[in-house]
Amino acid sequence: MNPKILLLGPPGAGKGTQSSNLVSEFGVEHVTTGDALRANKEMDISDLGLEYDTPGEYMDRGELVPDDVVNAIVEKALTSADGFVLDGYPRNLDQAEELESMTDLDVIVSLSVSEDELVDRLTGRRVCSECGENYHVEFDQPEEAGVCDACGGELIQREDDREEAVRNRLEVFAENTEPVIEYYSDREEFVEIDGEQSLEGVWADLQATVDEVA
Ligand code: AP5
Repeated sequence: MNPKILLLGPPGAGKGTQSSNLVSEFGVEHVTTGDALRANKEMDISDLGLEYDTPGEYMDRGELVPDDVVNAIVEKALTSADGFVLDGYPRNLDQAEELESMTDLDVIVSLSVSEDELVDRLTGRRVCSECGENYHVEFDQPEEAGVCDACGGELIQREDDREEAVRNRLEVFAENTEPVIEYYSDREEFVEIDGEQSLEGVWADLQATVDEVA
């Protein structure tokens, strides 16, 4: 059995970046609510009678997409996965309780990064419009500016990486998701890693942590 890994941390902590490494090294599946929702930004959820009619309207403002929509995505993805890295979920205590009923976890990793660094990382992030690969204008540059190394696609800025939405996402994180990290923090599977190190430094710590349960 491949390991079941939960990767927690604020927006910009490096969850997506390090999840790619975990997928290559441990053969797990990347289950990410952010990517799943981005692929369904225009989905009609008006029958739920909520504030907005599509996931995208919540996302572009940096708000959380309603639990019903997100829980269903995760449950479906986890049932078919043989080992996974779960990234972007749970983001509030209700989702954490829901996750308990779906699966158990081998390791729970929290990446910690200061707020100033998070703002720099997010506002400087660029993503490939074709394959979704992540870059940074300063910390992780492509060989040719604006062009994806992996597929040649155009690099763009995510709508929610503009400064106003970034600030809102960090507030939403402090209010909703920090309690989730606290909820897990006394579990024996819980490990905190300094996410402010270099990409390679974070990966070395993460790899060593997952190696112990793999
Ligand atoms: P989502 O896509 O999950 O965004 P997020 O959690 O805000 O995380 P990010 O993807 O922004 O950051 P990351 O930690 O993956 O960092 P990355 O590796 O890219 O969610 C988007 C939206 O979807 C939410 O706002 C919400 O609306 C909705 N949503 C998703 N899940 C939901 C849920 N469960 N419930 C309700 N709504 C939900 O790194 C960032 C940048 O930093 C990159 O440019 C990278 O190159 C650089 N970088 C990474 N590590 C380092 C390092 N060590 N040193 C220097 N630079 C680094």
